[in-house]
Amino acid sequence: MSYTLEAFCQDCREALTAQPGRAGRDAARGKLEELLLDQDFVAATLGDDQKPGVRTIYEDPDLDFCVLAYIAGADRSSPPHDHGNSWAIYGQAAKHTDMKMYNRVGGGEGAGEAKLEVIKEFRLNPGQAGLFDVGEIHMIDHPKGASFVRVTGTDLNHVERLRFDEKAGTAEIIEDQGVPHPDKA
Ligand SMILES: [Fe+2]
Repeated sequence: MSYTLEAFCQDCREALTAQPGRAGRDAARGKLEELLLDQDFVAATLGDDQKPGVRTIYEDPDLDFCVLAYIAGADRSSPPHDHGNSWAIYGQAAKHTDMKMYNRVGGGEGAGEAKLEVIKEFRLNPGQAGLFDVGEIHMIDHPKGASFVRVTGTDLNHVERLRFDEKAGTAEIIEDQGVPHPDKA
């Protein structure tokens, strides 16, 4: 049976409404894994005929969560970062993404001195999705040709968030990034 983007977004709405907080987000993560198993969705959204890059494929008018499709045009490793007051779910479609999660030593907040320790490392393979809840610091590393779907709690173009420099031991506030929206060209 086919599972569509529309059905996934409806299931997200229901999960996030029924269980605000981590439980609902984890339910949405499970639904994303289901969506990534649907070959029609993957072919239409992240198939070989699609250009590398990122695009927003859904934005919820009431709950504000966004669904974005990524195809990596090059190897890429992000520095550690959070998503400000948003959560994020990453779901792998092709190749893999290596993830690290960090603890900020001493529990500081905001920009400035920030020492990190790695608390978890894992790899997402096709069909697997991982949740980073609000404030959870993480980095991602994927090869050229990796593709994935990211669901965020809100449009990150409007969110101040932190980026960490592990070597320097600092954090700085950044604002995104310019993800194109189909209806806001
Ligand atoms: Fe992220």
